[in-house]
Amino acid sequence: MKKLAISLMLSLGLVVTAQAGDAGAGKKISAACAACHGQDGNSAAPSFPKIAGLGEAYLAKQLKDFKSGARDNAIMKGQVAALNDKQMEDLAAYFATKKRTVGYAAKDKVALGEKTYRAGNKATGVPACMACHSMDGSGMSAAGFPALGGQHGAYIKAQLVAFQEGKRANDASDVMRDIAARMSNKEIDAVSAYIQGLH
Ligand code: HEC
Ligand code: HEC
Repeated sequence: MKKLAISLMLSLGLVVTAQAGDAGAGKKISAACAACHGQDGNSAAPSFPKIAGLGEAYLAKQLKDFKSGARDNAIMKGQVAALNDKQMEDLAAYFATKKRTVGYAAKDKVALGEKTYRAGNKATGVPACMACHSMDGSGMSAAGFPALGGQHGAYIKAQLVAFQEGKRANDASDVMRDIAARMSNKEIDAVSAYIQGLH
């Protein structure tokens, strides 16, 4: 599995160079984020994603993508507009150190959700999510593969639909757009529910 993930990373050119954020400096400017994402990056409301433990490289990339518009979101664009690269890297370092809380998976979705996550769908060419996001959903931070486990299911579903429709297009080499395009609504629904309880 490790070998597969590494060859996927290399073939996608996704090996991200390590960021050098300062978590202490990030903490000092993180209060502005708490209103929506929670004090420790674990938002209570499913309309806001949990950002605790996502992975430093992934976090820094998302903040820069919101700022440049590569990831199009009006709320987050406003939040990062006044931040420079160093501040975004510091915030990424800070939230990467926070521990992610876990939710519960709806029972009727677990079977298909787990199958999709662990094995994908050979018939339609959906790869196993765990090849990149890891078995327990903690991701692979050095490669920029975000942690998914414990995330609000509604947020995961919204992102998969956004990738599917091309509304989110900041994934290198179209990796997630290509995967989401191959997924059925039922698979998206089930895997999103499964991920909410994954740890
Ligand atoms: C007013 C509410 C609000 C505030 C304040 C806010 N955010 Fe967000 N944030 C959001 C929303 C909504 C999204 C989801 C955007 C989407 O659907 O693409 C988001 C998404 C994100 C993501 C992407 C998460 C992922 O899993 O890809 C990161 C990282 C993030 N915010 C970091 C921050 C940081 C750091 C701050 C403080 C500087 C902050 N946010 C302040 C509302 C907010
Ligand atoms: C080949 C590696 C790879 C595989 C396999 C993969 N992903 Fe991803 N995924 C990524 C990368 C890379 C990103 C980050 C894209 C970016 O930089 O914005 C991502 C991002 C995501 C996100 C957005 C997370 C967030 O916090 O906003 C979701 C949701 C997601 N993947 C779900 C899945 C699901 C479900 C599967 C299985 C059906 C899957 N992925 C399979 C590489 C992969």
